[in-house]
Amino acid sequence: MSTVTSLTLHPGLEELKGIAEVAIRLDEVTKRFDGTDSDAVSALSLEIPRGSIVTLIGPSGCGKTTTLRMINRLIEPTSGRVEINGLDAIDQPVTALRRSIGYVIQQVGLFPHRTVSQNIATVPRTLGWDKQRTAGRVAELAELVGLEPSMLDRFPDELSGGQQQRVGVARALAADPPVLLMDEPFGAVDPIVRTRLQDELLALQEQVDKTIVFVTHDIDEALKLADRIALLNVGGILEQYSTPDDLLRAPANEFVEQFIGEDRGMKRLTLKTVADLPFEQGPVVDIGASPIEAVAVADAEGGDWVGLVREGSFAGWARSEDLRQGAAVADVPRSQPAAQVTPESTLRTAMELIMTSHTSVAVIDDGGRFGGVVTLDTIRASLVAEVDR
Ligand SMILES: Nc1ncnc2c1ncn2[C@@H]1O[C@H](COP(=O)(O)OP(=O)(O)O)[C@@H](O)[C@H]1O
Ligand SMILES: [Mg+2]
Repeated sequence: MSTVTSLTLHPGLEELKGIAEVAIRLDEVTKRFDGTDSDAVSALSLEIPRGSIVTLIGPSGCGKTTTLRMINRLIEPTSGRVEINGLDAIDQPVTALRRSIGYVIQQVGLFPHRTVSQNIATVPRTLGWDKQRTAGRVAELAELVGLEPSMLDRFPDELSGGQQQRVGVARALAADPPVLLMDEPFGAVDPIVRTRLQDELLALQEQVDKTIVFVTHDIDEALKLADRIALLNVGGILEQYSTPDDLLRAPANEFVEQFIGEDRGMKRLTLKTVADLPFEQGPVVDIGASPIEAVAVADAEGGDWVGLVREGSFAGWARSEDLRQGAAVADVPRSQPAAQVTPESTLRTAMELIMTSHTSVAVIDDGGRFGGVVTLDTIRASLVAEVDR
């Protein structure tokens, strides 16, 4: 936040701005269930920014579900405060509160004797929407979550697990609640479908811009989806709350380190794309350059080959040995890149290609334009640079 902005704002407005930015605030929230002698969640404080995906992760029984259910008041805290949009949850009528909070669980909880369409329309119906408005919304949601219109008249048990999850998400979004709570929603589907559902959720979030609290026990899922990760220990103790990259780069303690596992560096590579790299142009000349210039470029980079570019597009590699024969650069034998990536490729993909092709990889976008070269050193430097940040 720039100082100028905060100076020009009236204190009251400043306060309002804080409210606008934090969608959900947990303040020292504790839950001790009746008949138990320890806290399921103890003095948990957490601020969830509006429009972000926060994942709650931690070992089984650490209080993830309890925390989530205290947000929509399916469970009441023993002490502490839950604020939604700046208002104490306890002051809001429970039905109104739950309508403003979509809830998706692993078992989906679809009504078996109602069609998909009727399931999605659950909340609109209780809100008394007319037929036409409801039907329009159902169609819109089906498209949003990737359900074929032909599925709308089926019953839940006539759908696959992944399709049922999509219905669960559509139903939760029906009345367009600003907040979505998701409790291990993709836990019961196979890994391929899970990956697809995760990708769909990210694409969906681009469009709907909800505040999403997503519970998982899968660190890779948490890293992939989250803007911020809250890592809990047994008893609902918050061990670290940070961005995925910071969690991997700087685990707060031994528990966090152990939870993440040994391949922290490799995991960080999946979070970054080639476009994030200050990647090198590498040994590259225009195809109209002279052979002497081309060899000089290769020599300057310490290699025995040079990349050729014609009007910004990559035109292949040429070897210094061939260039030294004196023929025009355009006539020298060229080879296509053994390995290439796009700017959207993850650094992990780039790294794998470097390891398996024994060469640096060329960055070529979908339009065939050459963006430079990624080497092992550029990848390593990008990870190390942030450690010193
Ligand atoms: N209704 C309940 N009564 C008593 N103990 C409960 C109840 N619900 C959950 N717990 C306990 O609270 C702790 C946290 O549970 P939960 O929030 O479901 O964990 P998680 O979702 O992280 O696996 C666990 O020890 C669990 O046994
Ligand atoms: Mg749970």
